[in-house]
Amino acid sequence: MKKSVKQAKRKAPLKKTIKLVRKVKLKARSTPKSQAVAKSSVVREPVAHYGLKTQAPINGSHRFIDLFCGIGGFHRAFDKQGGVCVFASDWDKFSQITYRANFPNTNLIGDITTIDVPSIPEHDVLCAGFPCQPFSLAGVSKKNSLGRKHGFEDERQGNLFFNIAAILDHHRPAAFVLENVKNLKSHDKGRTFKTIHEILTKDLGYHVYYKIIDAQSVVPQHRERIFIVGFREPRLFEWPKFPEEGPKLGEILDDKVEDKYTLTDHLWTYLQNYARKHQEAGNGFGFGMTNRSGIARTLSARYHKDGSEILIDQGRNKNPRRLTPRECARLMGYPEKHKIVVSDTQAYRQFGNSVVVPVVERLAKAVIAALHEPALENEPLVMQFGEPKPEDGGQAMKVLKPKPRKRKPAAALA
Ligand SMILES: C[S@@+](CC[C@H](N)C(=O)[O-])C[C@H]1O[C@@H](n2cnc3c(N)ncnc32)[C@H](O)[C@@H]1O
Repeated sequence: MKKSVKQAKRKAPLKKTIKLVRKVKLKARSTPKSQAVAKSSVVREPVAHYGLKTQAPINGSHRFIDLFCGIGGFHRAFDKQGGVCVFASDWDKFSQITYRANFPNTNLIGDITTIDVPSIPEHDVLCAGFPCQPFSLAGVSKKNSLGRKHGFEDERQGNLFFNIAAILDHHRPAAFVLENVKNLKSHDKGRTFKTIHEILTKDLGYHVYYKIIDAQSVVPQHRERIFIVGFREPRLFEWPKFPEEGPKLGEILDDKVEDKYTLTDHLWTYLQNYARKHQEAGNGFGFGMTNRSGIARTLSARYHKDGSEILIDQGRNKNPRRLTPRECARLMGYPEKHKIVVSDTQAYRQFGNSVVVPVVERLAKAVIAALHEPALENEPLVMQFGEPKPEDGGQAMKVLKPKPRKRKPAAALA
């Protein structure tokens, strides 16, 4: 008796999330296809049914979709593995301008919430660096202080995960790669992540791995992000290996930069006073001064405001400077051919929101390698949710005896 009450309790939040997925799906379905296309003025070509099925093991080039695509960090990485991007979505006007300048042939649309899910082309891999603001520490504290909701309760942004879930449920791609801020793991005492994990594994039946990766082994920037990788069938997947020692800032800095990137006396005095005030109050706040032999703090989307998180020392006789947009591109691992076609402000925002391309490149290689091996009949590992330990790289998994896993009938989600 005791046991069943406990079980019922445990299943309750899941039921709630299933309802939410259903709500998202109904919303998408209730938008007629023609209307969904017309609503978004950014649609360049009609969203079509490509009629491709991905049930068989993939061969040759894989098709991927790039959700919340920003400026295409995922696109670059999966392109490099011989993939073809069949659909991309981002509602930000300036990100679209950059994306189109760099990937003119991709079918890019706007707000994902207005798209009829079945009209999204069939694909092998779903990529999504879904918006992190409701989950990030800065986002949470700002929202708390404003008395607003956050996480899944954020009506405007938090539920975008459910749009991803609805697409996975309908299209059943062979794999997915999701990215978010590290704090997603601990948000709401781990409950937010637990819900996400349960939807992906129990509701959708995917075989899920996750790990926090610090980009500093491939770019001169401390940037920790959580990556969630899932496979429709059990696969032998291995996280990519990263070098022990990463590059230093000197490798990405230009020797000569325009004076406009040097801080004005006014801003530099303000930042020093601000840092002093916080230091006296015992707070850790300070600017992030570094030089050619150091590495940068995490580039944020706010960098355009004062640049305080990454300042480059220019010696005693000159105020420090901020990074140029091109240096930010390198800091995020973008190749020199990446076109920057927007204002500095927008460019800083775009790079601050982006994934680090070489991290995703390694991940894409590992995912595609796993997909090219035949699917396993049984899971090699049964992932069990638990507290991740630092010694196993943040992976909360336990090896249990092999057990075939049954997916819940699709009707449970419809
Ligand atoms: C964290 S950024 C992802 C950046 C991307 N991974 C990259 O490499 O540049 C999240 C993106 O989601 C977009 N976004 C937010 N809500 C959206 C929505 N409802 N539909 C489409 N895109 C949305 C934002 O404009 C932003 O570019």
